Amino acid sequence: MLQKQNIDWDKLGFNASKTRSMWVGDCINDETWSRGALEPYGNINISPAACVLNYAQGVFEGMKAYHTKKDRIVLFRPHMNANRMAESTEKMCIPKMVPDYFINAVKATILDNIDFVPPFEKGAMYLRPIVFGTTPSISVGPSIEYKFIVFASPVGSYFPEGAKPLNMLISSDFHRAAPKGIGNAKAIGNYSASLFPGKEAKLRGYNDMIYLRASNEGFVEEMGSANIFAVKNKKLITPRLGGSILPGITRNSVIRIAKDLLDLEVDEGDLSVDQILSADEVFCTGTAVIVNPIGSITKDDNKISLSNKGYGPITKKLRETLLSIQLEEIADPFDWIYPLTD
Ligand code: PLP
Ligand code: COI
Repeated sequence: MLQKQNIDWDKLGFNASKTRSMWVGDCINDETWSRGALEPYGNINISPAACVLNYAQGVFEGMKAYHTKKDRIVLFRPHMNANRMAESTEKMCIPKMVPDYFINAVKATILDNIDFVPPFEKGAMYLRPIVFGTTPSISVGPSIEYKFIVFASPVGSYFPEGAKPLNMLISSDFHRAAPKGIGNAKAIGNYSASLFPGKEAKLRGYNDMIYLRASNEGFVEEMGSANIFAVKNKKLITPRLGGSILPGITRNSVIRIAKDLLDLEVDEGDLSVDQILSADEVFCTGTAVIVNPIGSITKDDNKISLSNKGYGPITKKLRETLLSIQLEEIADPFDWIYPLTD
């Protein structure tokens, strides 16, 4: 294995660091995605009237490359990201991203920056593929020209406290996404919608917000950067997909692990506020957050602390199993690991 960069791997947070290179591709709207090459990592030149800057026509993905126990670099289920990128681009009137083109660009970015992949158990290389409209325009409408960039950054824990139980806020003052809107695409506008509520939550001393369903506030949807699960009597309950929730790859993986490896029942359906407040365990899932316990939930100034001090046995087992598969510490029964080196 190549020599690693001289980085203090124990001090990694979730930050964008500069690496050697990034993949840059482009496309115009009557073409399929085919062009692109590695370029030195750096700033890009864009018109102030670019569609993405004025009308948020942009989508992204998030994925991780790991240095595993088998001393090789792997990706986790990259075709799921490629397919979600295809759906997100289509939904945002961007030329539909071709999955093979996406995978090739991600692979090239990792291989050229392989010395930035943290050592085994020291974190991961986060990959951020972004696509956006660059055509200058002040009238509202889709762009004609698009750029695709993949950049990478070595990362540690998403939350500064590590995998400690989170203190979350439920508020009916804000919604993340609307029914029949773009909540199920990884569209950049969904994240701008979560900035103000997230800031409010942090100012009030919480880690983040749990969003309610816009069409019926009796039900929970997800967080600003993760899906959510409740555990009651050893059964997992998570909001069903459809409409405004992002179809998380970690969510899907946790459901498979729960059902096939841990023999747990999983209900993908309605998760009511009452159910989440009376759960035995609550946790969130995502590429960045992995599986993270939730220790307390506050709604209407009423703070509910979850039993098990927020880090319950099922949450722990799911996190450990997922991470052990990702780091190749146990066999991968699902064929999820995608090796990039021997
Ligand atoms: N929900 C939102 C809003 C997210 O931003 C993310 C992160 O990507 C997720 C859920 C989890 O998705 P995944 O597990 O694919 O990372
Ligand atoms: C991810 O988990 O990869 C995400 O995209 C969430 C986030 C950091 C915005």
